[in-house]
Amino acid sequence: MTQTKHLHIGLSLAPTWQSGDAWRQLDSNIEGIFTADFAVDLARRAEAAHLDFVFRPDVCCVNETLLEQGSGFASLDPSILLAAVAQHTSRIGLVSTVSTTFNPPYVVARQLQSLNWVSRGRVGWNIVTALQGHENFGLPAMPGADERYRRAAEFTDVVRQLWCSYPGDAVLIDRAEGRYTDAARVKPIDHVGDHFRVRGPLNVPTFDARIPLIQAGASEAGRDFAAAVADIVFAPTPDLQAAQDLRTDLSQRALRHGRDPGDVRLLPGLSLYLADTREHAREIFMQTHARLDRVRKLEQIREMTGLDLRAWPDDRPITPADLPPPPPSPASRTHSHLLRRLLERESLILAELLLRPEVISAAHWQVIGTAEDAVESIRTWAASGAIDGFIAAPGGSVQSIAIFLEQVMPRLVEVGLFRSKYRHETFMEHLQQTND
Ligand SMILES: Cc1cc2nc3c(=O)[nH]c(=O)nc-3n(C[C@H](O)[C@H](O)[C@H](O)COP(=O)(O)O)c2cc1C
Repeated sequence: MTQTKHLHIGLSLAPTWQSGDAWRQLDSNIEGIFTADFAVDLARRAEAAHLDFVFRPDVCCVNETLLEQGSGFASLDPSILLAAVAQHTSRIGLVSTVSTTFNPPYVVARQLQSLNWVSRGRVGWNIVTALQGHENFGLPAMPGADERYRRAAEFTDVVRQLWCSYPGDAVLIDRAEGRYTDAARVKPIDHVGDHFRVRGPLNVPTFDARIPLIQAGASEAGRDFAAAVADIVFAPTPDLQAAQDLRTDLSQRALRHGRDPGDVRLLPGLSLYLADTREHAREIFMQTHARLDRVRKLEQIREMTGLDLRAWPDDRPITPADLPPPPPSPASRTHSHLLRRLLERESLILAELLLRPEVISAAHWQVIGTAEDAVESIRTWAASGAIDGFIAAPGGSVQSIAIFLEQVMPRLVEVGLFRSKYRHETFMEHLQQTND
């Protein structure tokens, strides 16, 4: 009998369970947001369920207008937080987000390689070109998306060269001969490109476990970049068809880059609002989004699609004919495309649109229901062959996290879709393992 291929599963460490109004619940642990405790606790529970990794998204700015109603984007630096998590875990992968638009590649190569040593080979790098924050880095405006990707490609190339510049096995520590390193094997990279000039070598030797790369933007340029370098694509795919289309496209692009399509793993985000009954789950979802900032959402819809719904009655359906031509350069082409796609495919009234994942949760696949509903949805998506796993983002309450880790995960093991224990030590090895 052929074994079912296991999924690769990550858990978001962004406090999604505190988003919207969920932070106001008594047990939300919002007071702990600037400590490492909650992330450590969650990572340990995720490790007990043998997840591939925990994942910390990040931005380099704070939105003051959001702070009145929630923590907004204020958060600890992800690599520092994960260094703390590394001390209390031993197997689970630790994915940090670092932007290629705002940082120098030498610093990033060094930080991530340091984290790789501290965690004994468990780091992943979520490469983002970022959507906002230029004003904090002396830039007059956010560079255009294509320019950000050109810089990201060169940046990633420099980081990878630096990671090869001081091979870990060049360190000899030969006390008898007095030789610390075989210095002839430590080489400058002498990189001179459009964006960077970096001599190298890196001042940290390479830990003996490659750092997996994760990428998220799904515009043409984003997919091409992902197909060239990524081990994981973190995808916003609100429905199965979107995931299937993205899978087909990524596979073709991977082949064009001379890579095995199986090495470009597609992991959609999965928003989970879980409770003991469907009614309760729906209630949690509605409560979470009860104070949804309507003005801000309508502005976001206008920016992404050009469609101005400010004077639109809540109950009037929006049809494809209402859509104006797309705006020329939206901040995220991925999210603009997915929102337009939704409006072209379904005739929604405004009240419905304002609760769809394309508007409220970065266009992720979403399950509002019981543990069994989540398992069924995951089984259907896995059976389609479109996905290699997912990144879970439990929302609405801490209960959603507990149900995911304690009920959904064991069921996925039972049905043969997930490992029953770790076989390996490093993050890359977890990704390469496809069954028990
Ligand atoms: C699912 C998803 C997650 C993202 N997460 C982050 C993030 O944590 N931090 C960040 O600065 N940008 C993030 N981005 C933005 C991307 O890095 C990129 O700048 C954006 O998607 C524009 O690329 P595009 O033209 O390919 O859409 C994310 C994008 C997507 C689609």
